[in-house]
Amino acid sequence: MLGLEIVIRDVFKVYRVGKVEVQALRGLSMEVRDGEIVSIIGPSGSGKTTLLNLIGGLDQPTAGSVRVGKIEVSALSPRQLTDYRRKTVGYIFQNLNLIPTLTAAENIELPMIALGTPRGKRRKRVKVLLEAVGMLHRASHKPDELSGGEQQRVAIAVALANDPPVILADEPTGELDSVNANLVTRYLVDVSREFEKTLIMVTHDSNVARAADRIMRIEDGVIKESLEPLRLAETVKPPSYIEQIRARLSSIDTQLRELDMEFRTGRIDGDEYVKRRLRLKNLRSSLEDELQRMGTL
Ligand SMILES: Nc1ncnc2c1ncn2[C@@H]1O[C@H](COP(=O)(O)OP(=O)(O)O)[C@@H](O)[C@H]1O
Ligand SMILES: [Mg+2]
Repeated sequence: MLGLEIVIRDVFKVYRVGKVEVQALRGLSMEVRDGEIVSIIGPSGSGKTTLLNLIGGLDQPTAGSVRVGKIEVSALSPRQLTDYRRKTVGYIFQNLNLIPTLTAAENIELPMIALGTPRGKRRKRVKVLLEAVGMLHRASHKPDELSGGEQQRVAIAVALANDPPVILADEPTGELDSVNANLVTRYLVDVSREFEKTLIMVTHDSNVARAADRIMRIEDGVIKESLEPLRLAETVKPPSYIEQIRARLSSIDTQLRELDMEFRTGRIDGDEYVKRRLRLKNLRSSLEDELQRMGTL
């Protein structure tokens, strides 16, 4: 299914906590074209998550209209909303996207089981999606056997499982270091284009935001401005992606050497040593994979 257009008109969202009213959105309007890739930036508490939840049908506006394609989301009944969430939107959160007891492949298959997709078709799509996020070689790994960046790449595949026209991502790189943040963003953007999705991603990382076609800035519950990514560019040229990965690899090697030293001088015990070493090794191998993927090793 192709991406859908999203039109939001004069949306208000008021939360009531006891006697206190919080106006999370105050007459917000915006439009996203079908197949467009938009990032939303703004300070903490400005209403980004609230906005995404309204588009995703996780919550309803107090007033105003949220339209996705031909669907008036703000008018759906609870049962229609469940259906809408399953078929029309794919969601990626900052963390905890995956079920810890299931493998990467099983996590991707699960939403399709919920929709009653036949087994053969499910298996095929799992493979296509794992491939699209560069994770085919980790199909039978469980989440805790994957790095944070790899988990988010699987989460992208999970969001795409039922082929929803709209992908919503709320701080998808919030817990990642900058190299993995850029890597996950690249996959998210590339896969959204490849599968012709409309993508809205919330972030407060300007590097991540810049990967979109358009950047909207939200403040106090309204859109304050809509920017072309170039206008957000810094005057100093940032290091290239490959340079960043190489720098990161060399810093990991230093950390590994320091770790060996700490262990040999008895400053950390064997358990701690093994745990930290494994974490660094995993990170190292995912970075190496990425360099290889880019044809530079
Ligand atoms: N469920 C809720 N109940 C009460 N207040 C909420 C709730 N969710 C969000 N808020 C408030 O609404 C405002 C916007 O929150 P949010 O959309 O989460 O901001 P952001 O994602 O930009 O950090 C904040 O002041 C927040 O405290
Ligand atoms: Mg938020």
